[in-house]
Amino acid sequence: MTEPERRTALVTGASAGIGEVFAEHLAARGFDLVLTARRLDALRQVAERLQDEHGVGCRVIPADLGEPESPRRILYELARDEVDVDVLVNNAGYGLPDTLIETEWPTVQAFMEVMAVSWLHFIRLFAPPMLERGWGRIVNVASLAAFAPEPQGSLYSGVKSQMVTTSRGLRRQFLGTGVHCTAVCPGFTHSEFHARLGMPDIASRMPRWMWQSAEQVVDEGWRGCERNRPVVVTGVTNKLIRGLLAVVPTRIAEAMTPKSINDIRTRRAT
Ligand SMILES: NC(=O)c1ccc[n+]([C@@H]2O[C@H](COP(=O)([O-])OP(=O)(O)OC[C@H]3O[C@@H](n4cnc5c(N)ncnc54)[C@H](OP(=O)(O)O)[C@@H]3O)[C@@H](O)[C@H]2O)c1
Repeated sequence: MTEPERRTALVTGASAGIGEVFAEHLAARGFDLVLTARRLDALRQVAERLQDEHGVGCRVIPADLGEPESPRRILYELARDEVDVDVLVNNAGYGLPDTLIETEWPTVQAFMEVMAVSWLHFIRLFAPPMLERGWGRIVNVASLAAFAPEPQGSLYSGVKSQMVTTSRGLRRQFLGTGVHCTAVCPGFTHSEFHARLGMPDIASRMPRWMWQSAEQVVDEGWRGCERNRPVVVTGVTNKLIRGLLAVVPTRIAEAMTPKSINDIRTRRAT
């Protein structure tokens, strides 16, 4: 009997939150891992734990995806060691605390590089070999925000909506090739995301039913990708909100949307 083929998953933003849980989920299914994010210490801790618990190979490549050459540098490092990527999880991401007008341009540029460019670059680099081999899985972690109005001056819903739309088109291009492409859209999820936006206690100020664990998001997202679903909005509550957003007139949806990230922070303080 021949050994079952070992496959490798590249997870971006694997040092915390949804990315770390994606790495764990895939390790538990026997995938070797390539983990990337900026924090080398955090990546090493995740890698050591997953190697010990699941006996998979785990390599870490620190990279700032705000730097345009990072995806290509990761490709070169893997190609040098003849590592093929079979699963690509484009997960790294964050929100900007201030509006476009209030934010220094280099900060906006780096945000757009991470959120709107780097994940396309990864697909451009890693999808062709998947297509040649006739097997691949691409998960793009977008957001429920993709379907919601943009808070005033913010850029987040826009980039996530681009991710969903582009992801759908890529999936259609790949149909019948063995390569799946799915946009996973979580709502509020426990992770480091909100603390980094300056809202460490937001989960305690909101109803529990609005929140999911990263494990719930990853479990549903990966199942959706295995079925080659174009879009997976995770959790019943988020599905209901998405359904509502599809029928409510835009001006009403806009009136229900927080004015800005700053608005949410200020409300907490009062
Ligand atoms: N949490 C939510 O409520 C929620 C809801 C909808 C969608 N999402 C999306 O889910 C994804 C994961 O977020 P999360 O909730 O797990 O947040 P998180 O806990 O803050 O994790 C974000 C990950 O992205 C990495 N990252 C951030 N900036 C980076 C950069 N410039 N270069 C490389 N890596 C970078 C971080 O690592 P380093 O800091 O080590 O670089 C970290 O591993 C994001 O795309 C986010 O937009 C989150």
